[in-house]
Amino acid sequence: MRNELVEMFTEEKMTAVDAIIERHRDNPGELLMVLVEVQDITRYLPVELQRYIAWRMGIPASRVYGVASFYSYFSLAPRGRKVVKVCTGTACYVKRAGEIKERLKQRLGLSEGEVSADGEFSIEEVRCLGACGLAPVAVIGEETFGLINPDNVEEILEKASS
Ligand code: FES
Repeated sequence: MRNELVEMFTEEKMTAVDAIIERHRDNPGELLMVLVEVQDITRYLPVELQRYIAWRMGIPASRVYGVASFYSYFSLAPRGRKVVKVCTGTACYVKRAGEIKERLKQRLGLSEGEVSADGEFSIEEVRCLGACGLAPVAVIGEETFGLINPDNVEEILEKASS
């Protein structure tokens, strides 16, 4: 099981994952913390990794899956170093969010759930980022961009990369 994960994430990252589990394994109540710390290293939590964490912590895999799938903070699919979140809530949708998302995907050469070849970007759709006054809105990494339009996606990607 571990060898498969080493192939997926490297030995160095799995050693760091093991150290996190080791620190919390006597306290299964700290599962949420384990998943947060592990995702910081691996960027996502595939089922194989969830099973490994469950096995090492001596808890059912269903419990790990329950937590990982409940919180939107966790990703079960690969993510880029910067996640592009395009809001498709109503206020953004009526202001061409769908078109903006397609333009971003095209510009980054991505399909839904994919990571760019350089590992830098992945794209996700989200429902209302709570900034409807700035619709349409997208978040790239830690930065929020409002009042965007299909013609300035190039510009916001450049800002996000700098
Ligand atoms: S609908 Fe997009 S920020 Fe609210």
